[in-house]
Amino acid sequence: MKLLVVGGGGREHAIIKKLKENKSVEEIFALPGNGGMAADATCVNIGAKDIDAIVDFAKNNAIDFAVVAPDDPLVLGCVDALKEAGIPAFGPSKAAAIIEGSKVFSKDLMKKYGIPTAEYEVFSDKDAALAYLETCPIPTVIKADGLALGKGVIIAETREEAKEAVVSMMEDKIFGESGSNIVVEEFLTGPEVSVLSFTDGNIVVPMVSSMDHKRALDGDKGLNTGGMGTIAPNPYYTAEVAERCMKEIFLPTIEAMKKEDREFRGCLYFGLMITEKGPKVIEYNCRFGDPETQVVLPLLDSDLLEIMMATAAGTLKEEMVQFADDAACCVVMASNGYPQAYEKGFPITTDEDFGGILYVAGAKLAEDGAVLTNGGRVLGVVARAEKLEDAVAEAYKQVEKVHFDNAYYRKDIGAKALAAKEA
Ligand code: AMP
Ligand code: GLY
Repeated sequence: MKLLVVGGGGREHAIIKKLKENKSVEEIFALPGNGGMAADATCVNIGAKDIDAIVDFAKNNAIDFAVVAPDDPLVLGCVDALKEAGIPAFGPSKAAAIIEGSKVFSKDLMKKYGIPTAEYEVFSDKDAALAYLETCPIPTVIKADGLALGKGVIIAETREEAKEAVVSMMEDKIFGESGSNIVVEEFLTGPEVSVLSFTDGNIVVPMVSSMDHKRALDGDKGLNTGGMGTIAPNPYYTAEVAERCMKEIFLPTIEAMKKEDREFRGCLYFGLMITEKGPKVIEYNCRFGDPETQVVLPLLDSDLLEIMMATAAGTLKEEMVQFADDAACCVVMASNGYPQAYEKGFPITTDEDFGGILYVAGAKLAEDGAVLTNGGRVLGVVARAEKLEDAVAEAYKQVEKVHFDNAYYRKDIGAKALAAKEA
């Protein structure tokens, strides 16, 4: 089979490596992919948002199955366009991807169907929003309605900060049209859990839970990033919490989407907070998480291609999705300065005895075949072990064997999870 994967980060590299385990896979094209994954896929210089070019490529290259990984092409209708052209594809339709594409949609959906989430108000008028902020409880959370590269959420500790956030989104349009409508939300507290799931619209099969580390610096300090590392499973996601999530969140969400005529087929990501009043939804994503995928897929014992094809066809069965009882840890190595300004173009090398899994996110191939850093998050180093503490220790041991100038990584990925396990 010839496969096509849309996207070019560490998440896509993890998906590609897992898909390759299926013996019927002859070739995988990554659009655009990146130079660091060239050994695993044929990278083609077509942008993930260039839907027409993606569909043309798929038709001209007799692609048997496509996987659309990032949010942008999903929200733009890439899966619909591929299917119209006769190419089966994994990922939600444009109608279903709105669950991530619009926070107003997802909040209203949860309210309508009684799915637990933070209390909220929606504003399309700046002055009304500012007036509301005079009296609302503080801290408060301001969210741009549309996609904003994961940066559209501001947690305001004071009224002043909250007002500044509203002005920057609604007047200065720092997130463009994404900020035309905003959600002002109750500030919740509690540990966060990411649960990725496969759903074909009829059943929902959760994958192993995970924990992201979004802040740039140790101790959850510094700016928000795309994610500096992950561990799986997440110790806060106990069997009891999992049962409640299935009953109160996962199944009701699938049913709600169906009732709204927006059946969701693909990977639905539940960003959860385990509050004192129980699990609540912080966000939905219409796709695999990054870097959650990098710890979840190495623990998947089953065949990813079979699962994805069944998900797309509406024939998913729970027994198709089996996870190992092991743990995994991903440490992201970034360019120093990320998520702000950083230098790039430094050669990446690994010692001969490197024994981890390497998922490359931001790299390009030089003419002489060298792999050069080419992004903020450069790569993820992943290790798997029976116990979480061993996976974490092993990931850090392998990080020492990967080299590039200006490398920066957090030293405490997994620390919070290990402390929670001991408590
Ligand atoms: P999001 O982009 O929706 O994932 O939000 C980014 C981060 O902001 C989340 O991972 C949470 O840590 C935090 N966050 C979002 N909404 C809330 C909320 N209502 N209360 C507290 N923290 C929140
Ligand atoms: N790691 C968070 C996300 O993928 O949105």
